[in-house]
Parts: sequence; structure tokens; C-alpha cells
Amino acid sequence: MTQGAADHRTTAGDREPILDPATLPRHVAIIMDGNGRWALQQGKPRIIGHQAGVQTVQEVVRCARELGLEAITLYAFSTENWRRPGPEVEGLMVLLQTYLKNHLDQMIQNQVRLRACGRIDLLPAKTRQILKDIISQTADNGGLILNLALSYGGRDELIRAVRKLADKIATGVLSPAEIDENSLAAELDSVGLPDPDLLIRTGGEARLSNFLPWQLSYSELYFTKTLWPDFGRSHFLAALADFQHRQRRFGKTGEQTMTRAKG
Ligand code: IPE
Ligand code: IPE
Ligand code: MG
Repeated sequence: MTQGAADHRTTAGDREPILDPATLPRHVAIIMDGNGRWALQQGKPRIIGHQAGVQTVQEVVRCARELGLEAITLYAFSTENWRRPGPEVEGLMVLLQTYLKNHLDQMIQNQVRLRACGRIDLLPAKTRQILKDIISQTADNGGLILNLALSYGGRDELIRAVRKLADKIATGVLSPAEIDENSLAAELDSVGLPDPDLLIRTGGEARLSNFLPWQLSYSELYFTKTLWPDFGRSHFLAALADFQHRQRRFGKTGEQTMTRAKG
């Protein structure tokens, strides 16, 4: 695990890094952390940090779309986040609803396809309904896939997948010998998505917090101290530039692996 190179706010005058379009990640996953501390620094309630974080979501999604990335997965709410104080959880759900409602037109216009992973069934009925509506309204869009991890826990996702496999075995549809990486991955919420090539975590912690344990097995990890509301286009581009300097070896030797970044 390496610390991200860009632990500073770049100013408007900084030049953007030159990215090689051929070795951009197909899929970027992001743990959007640090909203609460950002608000605390300003002497404001935590929800103000979450509101500011929505602006960053906007900026990063727009950048991902402009670069032509295939997918972006945003960790918006974990299974563990239900343990937070009730008003914060409620505030986050309202914020999610507002975000979705306010951005539907933009998503349609920009060919963004919304997806979700996690225990959507546990979300408040109203939030769930808006989410489902937008997922179906954007289902045929061919641009960026915006995958929101909501009430998401990687262990929970794996358990649900294993149960589905067990059901198939119990009903004779599958034999134990047929369980392999493909059949397990096919039962995960991420079915059909490429594994993330790059994971970004903002906010200074170097942990996964139950995020995509299966899918991130071979991802490049990028940790930055920048708090999510302070993260923006320039930080995202810096993370992508850092990614492009990695050599992904997938178990082989450096000599065997001549290409950088892409698998
Ligand atoms: C991440 O920011 C957003 C969610 C978990 C919903 P935090 O709220 O965890 O911010 P910190 O870590 O307390 O600063
Ligand atoms: C991870 O952040 C979850 C999201 C960003 C939604 P947390 O702030 O909840 O993670 P921990 O508890 O510090 O590991
Ligand atoms: Mg946090």
C-alpha cells in the first residue's frame, strides 16, 4: 500500500497531469471519507460535511464521464454506518434522495447509467423507490456506469452470494465442483462490472472498511489525506496519473510484464 502522491490541494494555476488514454482504469472505486472531520474543522455540524461531499461527487463523476471511464463505484453508506446517530443517518438518506432527484436529468442527458450495490432493501422506502426509478430510467444508457454502494458491506455481499450458490446446489442446478471464481462473481451485486483497477480512499485512513473485498483483490490502492469535500478534479486526475505509473504484475515478474497500469 502506498500513500498517494497528491496530499495537497492543487491550485487553479497548477497544470493538469497528462494522462495516457490507453491506460486509464476501466473502473475506479472510491471510499469517500472525511466529511465529518471537514465539517468539524469548520466548526459546523457533520451533515454540512456530507452536503459539501455531494459537490465532490458531482465533480468527480463529471471528470470520470469526460475521460470516458467505464464505471465508477462510490462507497456512500456502509452496513456499519447504520450504527451512527439516527439524525445523521436520516440526513444522509435525505441527501441521497435529493442528489438523485436533482441529477436525474443530467444523468439522462449524459448517458450515465445508475447502478447500486448493497442491501437496498434496508433503505427507507422513499429513498429505495427513487433509486429504483432512476436505475430503470437510466438502464439503457451507454455511458459511464455510476455504481452507488448503499447499505453495502463486502462480507454481507459475499454471504448473500454464497447463499445463492448453496440454494442452487440444494435444488440441483449446480454441483459443488462448479463453484469457481466465475460462478461466485456471478452472484455478487457487481455482476457484469469489471473489477476496479484503482481504489481511491480519501480522508487519511489506510483501510478498506468492508468495501469490495472480492473485487479489490488485485486493484491498485491509492490513499490520500485529502478530506472528501476538499477532493476535486485535480486530485482525481493526480490519482489517475499515479495509477498510470504503477506496474500491475498479477503475480508475474517485472520482466514478464512490459505494460504499465492496464492488466
Ligand atoms: C464519509 O465521511 C461519509 C460516510 C461514511 C457516509 P465520514 O462521515 O466518515 O467522515 P469522517 O471520517 O467522520 O471525517
Ligand atoms: C467508510 O467510511 C464508509 C463510507 C465511506 C461510506 P467510514 O468512515 O464509515 O469508515 P471507518 O468506520 O472509519 O472504517
Ligand atoms: Mg469516516
